[in-house]
This record gives sequence, C-alpha cells and structure tokens, in this order.
Amino acid sequence: MNILLLGSGGREHTFAWKMRQSPLCEKLIIAPGNAGMTDLGININIDPIDFQAVRILAIAEKIDMIVVGPEEPLVRGIYDYFQHDLSVEHIAIVGPSRMGALLEGSKAYAKRFMQEFDIPTAAYREFSKEDLNAGLNYIAQQKLPIVLKADGLAAGKGVIICATITEAQQAFREMLDGKFGEASAKVVIEEFLTGIEFSVFVLTDGKDYKILPVAKDYKRIGEGDTGPNTGGMGAVSHPPFVDQVLMQKVEERVIKRTIKGIQKTDLDYKGFIFFGLINVNGDPYVIEYNCRMGDPETEVVFPRLKTDLVALMQAMCEGRLSEIEIEEDERAAATVILVSGGYPDAYEKGKMITGLEQVEGSIVFHAGTKSMGNQIVSNGGRVLAITSYGKDFHEALQLSYKNAEKIQFNNKYYRKDIGFDL
Ligand code: AMP
Ligand code: GLY
Repeated sequence: MNILLLGSGGREHTFAWKMRQSPLCEKLIIAPGNAGMTDLGININIDPIDFQAVRILAIAEKIDMIVVGPEEPLVRGIYDYFQHDLSVEHIAIVGPSRMGALLEGSKAYAKRFMQEFDIPTAAYREFSKEDLNAGLNYIAQQKLPIVLKADGLAAGKGVIICATITEAQQAFREMLDGKFGEASAKVVIEEFLTGIEFSVFVLTDGKDYKILPVAKDYKRIGEGDTGPNTGGMGAVSHPPFVDQVLMQKVEERVIKRTIKGIQKTDLDYKGFIFFGLINVNGDPYVIEYNCRMGDPETEVVFPRLKTDLVALMQAMCEGRLSEIEIEEDERAAATVILVSGGYPDAYEKGKMITGLEQVEGSIVFHAGTKSMGNQIVSNGGRVLAITSYGKDFHEALQLSYKNAEKIQFNNKYYRKDIGFDL
C-alpha cells in the first residue's frame, strides 16, 4: 500500500516509524516531514493545508491512503475535498469529515454534542458578541475559578483559567473583542473541574472502535505544572492511576456515548478520536475532544502498540475494524521533550544539534528539526522527543533523562519532573 502522511512533528515521526514496521507499507511519502523522517520515507515540502498540492501529489504517487497528523487540514475539510472529487475519491483518508472535526474545531459544538448525548463534561454556557451583558452577568454568578474557552482553534492558547470575577469579565470582553481573532467570536464559559488529566485514544469508523494505549501528558512549561501551556513537554503510558474500574467508566460513559452520538448526528467519522479526560473523584469527565492523535502522547502510545498500525487503519477504512485485535506492550513508555529556550513564547531556530549518535537505548523522535547540509538544526519550539521503555515509567524516564543530557543544542530546555504526580 502507498501511504501519504501529512505533518511534520514528533507525532508524525512516530506514525512514520510505526507504519514503516508494517509489511503492508510499500511506499511512504511524508509532507512536509522533518530531518528525523528522511530515512523512513520520501519527504516532500508541501503544506498539508494546500489541498490542491496534496491532491496532485497523491495522484502522482498513486497513493492509497492519506494519514492526516494535525487537526488543521481536518478542520478545514481535507476529507470532504477528496470525497467530492471523482479522480481521488478512491483514496482512503484517515481522519474525519469537516463536520466530524468540529468536535475539536468548535468547543461550543462539542459541548452541545456532549450535552445531547449525556457525556459527562463541565457545566457551561456559550456566548457571542451580542450576549456580552448576559455573559458578564453569568460570570458574576459563577464559582471560582472560571474557565473561558475560545470556540475555535487557537493554537492551544484559547483556554484562560481566571481566579477572580473581575479577571474573568476582563478576559471575556477581550476574547469577544478578537483576542484570538475569529476563534473567540464565540466564548464557552465553563465550570472548573479538579482532578488529574489523562488522554484516551480510539480509532473508529463511526460504528466500531478500538481503544489504544492510555497516556498522560504534561502541558505546562514549568516544573510542578506551572507557567504557560505548551503543546506538551512529556508523556507517560500507562499512567498507573487509570485502573480498570476507571477505564470501564470511560468506555461506557464517554466512548460508547460518543460513538452513538456520531451515528445519531450522521457524522462521517473515520479516524482517531482523542478524549482529553479528567478524573474527578473516580469519575471521568471530558475536558476536550480532538480529531487526531495527541502530541507528545503518540510518542508513547504507538511504541506500546504491538498491533500493526497500517493493518489497523486499513481495516478501519474498509469497515473491518472488528477483525483487529489491539495488543499492548506490557512495558511502560515515557517521553521527554527537548525544547528551544523561550518556548512557548519567542524562541530561536537554526541551532545545531549534536550528540544524537550517542543516544543509547532510547528512540529519538524529531519534532522541530531540519537538515542543513550534513547538520541537523532546530526548527521549532519543540525540537526532539526522547522515548524509552522500562518495567515501569520511572525506569523509562530515567533512561530518557540520561539520553537527554547527551544531546546538545544552544538554549536546550526540558522539564526534569515528568511523571511527578503519578
Ligand atoms: P483544552 O484546550 O480544552 O484542552 O484546555 C487546556 C487545558 O486547560 C486543559 O488541559 C486543562 O488543564 C485546562 N482546562 C480546560 N478546561 C478545564 C476545566 N473545565 N476545568 C479545569 N481545567 C480545565
Ligand atoms: N498533547 C495534547 C495535544 O496534542 O493536544
């Protein structure tokens, strides 16, 4: 099978690494890819949101399946674009339709969906510009802290947690005034939930589903979960607090009801669903849906997935998901992200990376790198993900940290406390 993988981060490097292990993967093209993926497939410098260029590439390379890594092409409707074109409609897309991707692309849509299908989530109300006064009044009546969310995609920055009413009212005004552009033309105000977060992933064809290994990621830049949110600074799989009792509740109350909702709403959904969950006194609540795999969760989830990923995705596309068995590696996996100093605010790119060849026993997934002649240089905020296995996550982390020290680039930073709360 000829596969086209879209994206350029650590998540996509892990997809490429895992798909390459499959005998079903004959040709792998990656657009645009990064320096870590050049041995795994042919990297072609095309932007995944340029659907026309993706289409031309897919035809030229006789692609059978397109695996969409990031959310943006999905939210913009890459699935629908291919489906409505006779010359490419035979190409299977792993990722939902534009309507399905609204579960991530619009927080208000996702909240309404959860309410309709009785999926546990924080209580909320949605407001747009004409409801300014109603929104300010609503805020004044809420318990603290208050969570404000921009409705649309805001590069992971659209959630503000406010400690006082005044702060929340101020932030609410700013959001409606365009703090996140169109994304905050509508704002969801919701109840703050207290608990520990975890990430559950399924692959679904909209009817059947398969649950992948569970993970927990660390989003804040600073140790002890402090400072601004990032794309993710590390991850662990399996987080020990997610026991069978909790997973049973996740499956019954969240996964099954979501799949039922997808069917009842007639959403065309053939792809991954990432449930961002929080454990509130033993009960799972949905913080958010994403229409793709997580990053850096993928860097620990796929290494623990023994099942052939290409066979799994192919079965999903062909409506044969029930034939596939998910096998998990019994070992734990952990990943530590090396980032550019300054991230998630301003940071510099183009720093020479050395010491990669000294890494022993870990897998290095590239996140933001590119080749410059014979050198590999940084090309993003998140630069590398160092994944290791261990008998438990402590052992896995120890190995990742040992190798993190061997890799050098100017202004390298990483959190030394991944897994601290487990
Ligand atoms: P989101 O972009 O929706 O994942 O939100 C980003 C982060 O904000 C989440 O990972 C949580 O840590 C936090 N968050 C979002 N919603 C809530 C909530 N209702 N209660 C507590 N924390 C939340
Ligand atoms: N790690 C969180 C995300 O991928 O959105």
